[in-house]
Amino acid sequence: MVFISQKVRNALMKGVDSAIIERILMETSEERMTKNIIEMADVSFRYTEENPDLILDNVNLSIEKGEWVTIIGPNGSGKSTLTKTMNGLILPSDGKIVIDGTEMTEENLWSVRRKIGMVFQNPENQFVGATVEDDVAFGLENIGMARDEMKTRVKDALLRVDMWDLADRQPANLSGGQKQRAAIAGIIASRPEIIVLDEATSMLDPLGRQIVFDTIKDIKQEDNLTIISITHDINEALESDRIVVMEKGKIVAVGTPEEIFAYGERLIDLGLEVPFSETLKTSLRDVGFPVPKEYLTDERMMEWLWIYNSKM
Ligand SMILES: Nc1ncnc2c1ncn2[C@@H]1O[C@H](COP(=O)(O)OP(=O)(O)OP(=O)(O)O)[C@@H](O)[C@H]1O
Ligand SMILES: [Mg+2]
Repeated sequence: MVFISQKVRNALMKGVDSAIIERILMETSEERMTKNIIEMADVSFRYTEENPDLILDNVNLSIEKGEWVTIIGPNGSGKSTLTKTMNGLILPSDGKIVIDGTEMTEENLWSVRRKIGMVFQNPENQFVGATVEDDVAFGLENIGMARDEMKTRVKDALLRVDMWDLADRQPANLSGGQKQRAAIAGIIASRPEIIVLDEATSMLDPLGRQIVFDTIKDIKQEDNLTIISITHDINEALESDRIVVMEKGKIVAVGTPEEIFAYGERLIDLGLEVPFSETLKTSLRDVGFPVPKEYLTDERMMEWLWIYNSKM
């Protein structure tokens, strides 16, 4: 499909000179380039020639700068593989990936990769430094940053995740939530444009999850970061701007949380932990109650039940 902007359409209708139309076309494509921080076009991936199964099957996805995108899908559907292609940990077998206006190639992999920080599921495997401070400094040392600037950045990053008072601790002696916050500090110290969280809160207890989640929300807000998060947590998904649903290496749906939550019970097959309120709502709807269409938290479901009951 050819994309013709309103500006070009107006110009064509007025019979404007072709050179001017060409200029408008260039401006419009530049606008789109800067708006989308990630563009994936017809991306496919298979691990080996011997195993011809497509792990990613013709994926097309655009993500705007500053967006918070949740990726859901059953185990093995290709969520982690998809995010690994975004920072070049995996190179696609076919298709094109453009990060912040630059098409990723084997040659520019390292510079593109600096724009994306990744936090993984297991907090244990993400440390190399003897102390929290050393660990956060590690990535900056590797790019040859001057000592003074490095110290400032490390302190700033640890303050941002509320971990500065634990800077001298050994990473091994931290709680799971503290480990994930230290890992996030390591990433924000290198000032990325995009943070990818691959089930980063799934091994934490509810309080740890909340603290890490709030930390991410704050830094996203302050720095207009783009967040891509793979999660099974419905409350986390609810707060995002868009949800991408994957199945068998394909993107099968993209929508706002309200649109995707309208799938109801099918969300369980798609890898989300559906809360009790949503299950209750489906059962009530099945027997004819006029329950609201949108997703309700447990509290809002309670409120609705109270109001409905008081009107009967
Ligand atoms: N190194 C590898 N070699 C071959 N196949 C692999 C490799 N890593 C993953 N796969 C396969 O690729 C498919 C997609 O895996 P991926 O880890 O991307 O799924 P996922 O959606 O992240 O799953 P989960 O929810 O379990 O984390 C799976 O079928 C998996 O078995
Ligand atoms: Mg995964």
